[in-house]
Amino acid sequence: MPALVDTFGRVHRDLRISVTDRCNFRCGYCMPEEGMDWLPRSELLTFEEIERVAALLVGRFGVDSIRLTGGEPTVRAHLPVLIGKLAALGVDLALTTNGAGLAGCAHDLRAAGLGRINISLDTLRADRFEELTRRDDLHRVVAGIDAAVAAGLHPVKVNTVVMRDVNDDELVDLARFGRERGVVVRFIEFMPLDAQGAWERDRVVAQREIVERIHEVFPLAPVDRGHDPAGRFRYLDGGGEIGVIPSVTEPFCGACDRIRLTSEGRLRNCLFAVEETDLRAVLRGGGSDDDLARAVESCVAAKWEGHAIGRVRFVRPERSMSQIGG
Ligand code: 5AD
Ligand code: SF4
Repeated sequence: MPALVDTFGRVHRDLRISVTDRCNFRCGYCMPEEGMDWLPRSELLTFEEIERVAALLVGRFGVDSIRLTGGEPTVRAHLPVLIGKLAALGVDLALTTNGAGLAGCAHDLRAAGLGRINISLDTLRADRFEELTRRDDLHRVVAGIDAAVAAGLHPVKVNTVVMRDVNDDELVDLARFGRERGVVVRFIEFMPLDAQGAWERDRVVAQREIVERIHEVFPLAPVDRGHDPAGRFRYLDGGGEIGVIPSVTEPFCGACDRIRLTSEGRLRNCLFAVEETDLRAVLRGGGSDDDLARAVESCVAAKWEGHAIGRVRFVRPERSMSQIGG
């Protein structure tokens, strides 16, 4: 089977699909302050269009892992229908969500064939949560995490973006939260993808510091990370493990196997890509599977070596995280 290989020899098997640009939260580092103009429904890929692209990538190029993102994916109507279609492709199927609506749908997602789930949670303090997301929904997200575990989604992971002077005083509390619930908390270094342009280098809390600060209270030992971009650390007392995603201090671009499809059908070869390939134009212009495959191959072939954060040639992409999906 031909594979999606770029000029650096990286084989791409992981597809991330944003199913909506909408979100019921407005995290300050993710969306512009004044909010966003949502795309009209007709601009979004239909489930049939998403299924066609996904099936082509799986069948022709060996893509074996698909993650659904947003915006907030659970606000897309009839999401379990799409999950059913994608699960039928036999891939490892995952979802990234803010968790607020999960208590009401975790069971349906699982029943439709979802395997794994990542829930974003940056703070355990209600007032801070509201400041960050502009929604008073901390209790809902916590209920969502519990519902995901109860529904049998596995593994359930919590994603925490660590920002200095915003939530870095909660590292140990968040670690404890994960231990108590038996879920893996993954601490993510803050990347320059925030809509307000508030990112500064000194807002980044490096992997080394994150691990040291948790280790002081709950001793940790490194685990071989294998292919996972997350550094893995297990608690010496058997209380589970944490992950740390060193996107800034130790970029994993060299092993990147991801491509991303936006909700309006543009293919991005990097989180930080400045150019996109319009697959929707091919789909809606009557293109054949060969036409689609060629468009995908040329998008991947044009992929750069890495994101170059901190170097002169780094260019912040026009899209903010809420439109890329993570
Ligand atoms: N840096 C790192 N992670 C981010 N996310 C959003 N913006 C950033 C950023 N600038 C995370 C969200 C969520 C996922 C979709 O991406 O918190 O976990
Ligand atoms: Fe929504 Fe997630 Fe962005 Fe927050 S980080 S605004 S939950 S898409």
